Order: sequence, then structure tokens, then C-alpha cells
Amino acid sequence: MHGIDARRVRTRHLAQAKAQGTKITALTSYDALTAAIFDEAGIDLLLVGDSAANVVLGQDSTLGITLDEMITMARAVAGAAKRAFVVCDLPFGSYEESDAQAVASSVRLMKEAGVAAVKIEGGVEMAPTIRRIVDAGIPVVAHIGYTPQSEHALGGHVVQGRGDAAERLLADAAAVAEAGACAVVLEMVPAELAARVTAEVAVPTIGIGAGAGCDGQILVWTDAFGLGRGRAPRFVRRFAQLGEDLLAAARTYADEVEAGTFPAAAESFGDSKERDK
Ligand code: KIV
Repeated sequence: MHGIDARRVRTRHLAQAKAQGTKITALTSYDALTAAIFDEAGIDLLLVGDSAANVVLGQDSTLGITLDEMITMARAVAGAAKRAFVVCDLPFGSYEESDAQAVASSVRLMKEAGVAAVKIEGGVEMAPTIRRIVDAGIPVVAHIGYTPQSEHALGGHVVQGRGDAAERLLADAAAVAEAGACAVVLEMVPAELAARVTAEVAVPTIGIGAGAGCDGQILVWTDAFGLGRGRAPRFVRRFAQLGEDLLAAARTYADEVEAGTFPAAAESFGDSKERDK
């Protein structure tokens, strides 16, 4: 057994992993098929990320996806994962108006999708909202550094926390931990700063483009396994080339249908019931 030793990963196992120096493994998932595979592989945390807007819906940003769309995908992931800690993003527009709106959206994700926690983007400014959601009995994963829902305010996909901005990032991490977050995602943060945050905050850090010094790592699964057609960000390692495999398989299928070699007799029904199996 490697990684977290638990039949069902819960918040206390994430905390234990940090205390024991066990790395937390995390991937995004948006459907039952990949959730079951990643769960069987022993991935500790599955995030139904609002990156579904890009990956599943083909949109240019994460801003357009709705809470209802997230709930549909999260229900599939939560239903298929037997061991992993399933977290769902609060999408843009589902929590900013008021703490009451944030709690109501989180309750919907817990009740209708059956996830174990919600994730929310933002640091110091979001800490009171995190506290309200946690007080409602809902575990919260915070997300600081580069926060894709603020891509226009941040001026695009840029590294956060360099130079003077480091203190601000440390303050964000301290504020969300103090507010009760059970983990914090650090996205596109210099590796040294991410390691410092990891050493200073009591809750586990899960990095994406934040170096090896975090308590865990997360990647968008289609980036990690080579299913996206575009160029992946430079912090992504391609662990497989599923896009190329799928393209080749689809071409072979089309060739065989066109050539009349699929289906063969063994793949067709005959008069005798014997061949139905
Ligand atoms: O939506 C998402 O996939 C995320 C990860 C990049 C952490 O928030």
C-alpha cells in the first residue's frame, strides 16, 4: 500500500498525511468512468473542477459553467468513487453575492451531488465565507495563487506571489487555514514560496504548478494523460498520450467500417441462439 491508508479518505486522513509526510494524490474527474478508474488507482482526492467548462463543455474559460451543470457531473463522480475524497468547485456566480448564497450553493452540492467537500477560490477576502460554510458542517478546500475564475482581474494566466506579492499569498494561506479550510490548493506559485506556505500553515497544501514542496499534487486529468489537443501548461507532465491513442483507434474503426471488415461474422447475430453470447 502506498499513500494514504484509508478505506474511505476523509478530512482527518488529509491532516494525518500532512503530519506524516505522506503525499496526497489528486486529479480532476468529471464523470463516472474516470472517477471509477482513478479511484481504483488509489488517487486520494477527486476534484470535480470548474475546469469542466474547458474540458467537457469546450469553453474558453471557467466562468460560464453553472451550479446545475457542476451538480450533474459531481453526482456521477461521487457515485462512482468508493474511496477517494470527492470535492466539487463552487462555480463562478454561485457564492460571491453573500455568505448565505455560498452556504446555499454548498448545501446543494452536498445534498444533490453527494460530494464530501466544496472548493472555493480566494484568500483573505473569502475567509469569512469559508468560515460560514465550515460552520454549516461542510468541509471546504480553499484555492489561492492563480485563481482561474479571476483570470480577467489577474490579467491572464500568470504566476502569483512573486516578489512583494509573496507576503500577500502567505496572508491568504494563513487566513483560509484560520477560517477552517481542510486543505488549500496553491496554483501557479513559485516553488520556494509554496514550500514556505506548506511549512507555515497547519492544513495540507495541494499544488498545481507550485513545485514539489507541497503536501500533495493535483493536475487536470486530460492534461496529465494527454487527451487535450492543445498545448498543456509547462508545469504539466504527460503521463500518457490518450489523445493520440483515441485518434488512432477512431481512424482504425472508420477504416474497418468503410472496408466492410467490421463487423465480422463473430460480431454479428445468426439464426441460432447459440451465437447470442
Ligand atoms: O477546476 C480545476 O480543475 C481546478 C484545478 C486546476 C485545481 O481548480
